[in-house]
Amino acid sequence: MSASLHEMSERGARLAREALKPCLTSGARILEVGCGDGSFLQTLAADYPIQGVGVDPWVRPVKSGAVDLRALAAEAVDRLEGRFDCIFTVMSLHHFADPGRFFRAALAVAARRSRIVVVDWKHGVDTGVPERYFTLDEVSARLGHAGYQVLEAREDTWHLVVTAQPAVQRVGWL
Ligand SMILES: C[S@@+](CC[C@H](N)C(=O)[O-])C[C@H]1O[C@@H](n2cnc3c(N)ncnc32)[C@H](O)[C@@H]1O
Repeated sequence: MSASLHEMSERGARLAREALKPCLTSGARILEVGCGDGSFLQTLAADYPIQGVGVDPWVRPVKSGAVDLRALAAEAVDRLEGRFDCIFTVMSLHHFADPGRFFRAALAVAARRSRIVVVDWKHGVDTGVPERYFTLDEVSARLGHAGYQVLEAREDTWHLVVTAQPAVQRVGWL
């Protein structure tokens, strides 16, 4: 029997949690990009003592507890104030108008020793939605071109998971 889209999405959320776990330390500033209604970030903030910021062009802005949701496109995250210990995106990268520009904008607000985590459907998966998904190599290459060093790149049944860090530590971070 084939899996439902719900099961497939749940699997993606579990993979994201696993990949994010090392980042979810006390007080860490965590940015979710393409956060939808912010529910995934809310669950992280309920389980870990983080400060969460979520952005999505179509989110209803709200600041509640440890989560601050803002209406903003991925390609404009460099407009956010402060720096983030972890920047992540779940099942949203393939929606972004310009993923390379998003990666570069994210670099501008990345803290020292920060991580970027990308979880998305992998190329060729049938989600029932007529969308084109990236290959693992495409995501890794785009991150490399944008100035990141890929630390881990792997595929699961339906998803790809990539963790990277800024390739160069900037003077302002020292
Ligand atoms: C499939 S939903 C995933 C939402 C959420 N991450 C989740 O896993 O439930 C894709 C999201 O990407 C958002 N999106 C589309 N274009 C975007 C952009 N340029 N910048 C940020 N988010 C964008 C959509 O508004 C939508 O909420």
